[in-house]
Amino acid sequence: MNYETLKVERRGRVGIVTLIRTEALNALNNRLMDELTHAIDALEADEAIGCMVLTGSGRAFAAGADIKEMAFKTYPEAFGEDFLTRNWERVTRTRKPVIAAVNGLALGGGCELAMMCDFILASDKARFGQPEIKVGVMPGAGGTQRLARFIGKSKAMEMCLSGRMMDAEEAERCGLVSRIVPDSQLLDEAIRTAEVIAGHPQPMVMMTKEAVNRAYETTLSEGVRVERRLAQSVFAFADQREGAQAFIEKRPPKYKHR
Ligand code: HXC
Repeated sequence: MNYETLKVERRGRVGIVTLIRTEALNALNNRLMDELTHAIDALEADEAIGCMVLTGSGRAFAAGADIKEMAFKTYPEAFGEDFLTRNWERVTRTRKPVIAAVNGLALGGGCELAMMCDFILASDKARFGQPEIKVGVMPGAGGTQRLARFIGKSKAMEMCLSGRMMDAEEAERCGLVSRIVPDSQLLDEAIRTAEVIAGHPQPMVMMTKEAVNRAYETTLSEGVRVERRLAQSVFAFADQREGAQAFIEKRPPKYKHR
C-alpha cells in the first residue's frame, strides 16, 4: 500500500508509525485509518518487529476524527459502513505492544487512539481532551469508557461534558500518561523504551501484555487465574531457559524469541 497519511519505519526490532496529515493536525479521516490498519497489520505480521511506536507530527498527535469528512454523514451511512468499528480499532487487537508517543494535541479521536495503545509517553507540549461535545457530537471510539477507567469518573465526566483540554502535567498526575518527556527527546525516548521491550523475549512480552489487559476486562480472581496459567506456560519456551542460564552465568541473554 502506498501511504499518503503516514510514514512507517523499521529501526531494529521497533516499528515506528508517524501520522503525517500535518496540515490538518493529523485529523483522522477514513484514508488515514485504513492506512493505519494496514500498517499495523504489516508490523504485527513481521517477525523481526517486537514493539511499535505510534506518534504524530507538527503540533498534533491527532486532533480527532475529521470533522469535515463527517459533516454531512447520515445515520444510514454510518450504520452501513460500520463507522469507527470498521477501521478504528486495529491497534486494540495488536498482540505486540504499541507505545503512543504523544507530541502535541491529542483531542477527541486522537485522545481515544492514544488510549487504545498500551501506554502513553507524553511530550511536555502534549494536550489531551475529548472536545467532541463542542462540535455537536460525542466520543465514539471509546473515549467515555477508556478515559473513565484511566482517570476516574469525576475527571472523565468533566472532560467529556465540558470539552476542556488538560496539559501533560495534569495528564501524568491523573494517570493518563506513564511519563512526561521533554519535547525534543520524545521520539528518541519512545524508541529507546520500545527497544528495551523488544529486547525481552517476545512470547513473554505478548503474554504479559495480555495479562495486564485482563485486569480491565474481568474480576481479580479470574485475572489472577489467567496470569497463573500464562506464567506456568513460560516453561514451554526456550527463552525461559536462556534467561535463567544467562543470569546464572552472569552474561547477557541471547533470546531467540521462542
Ligand atoms: C478536520 C481539522 C480538525 C479536525 C483541525 N483541523 N482539527 N480538520 N477535523 N478534527 C484542521 C483545521 O480545519 C485547519 O485546517 C487545520 O487543521 C489547523 O487547525 P486550526 O483550527 O486552524 O488550528 P488552531 O486555531 O490552532 O486550533 C487548533 C484546535 C482546533 C483547537 C485543535 O483545530 C480544533 O478545535 N479542532 C477540532 C478538535 C475536535 O473537536 N476534535 C474532535 C472531533 S470529533 P484549514 O484547512 O482551515 O487550515 C471526534 C470523534 C467523533 O474526534 C466521534 C463520532 C461521532
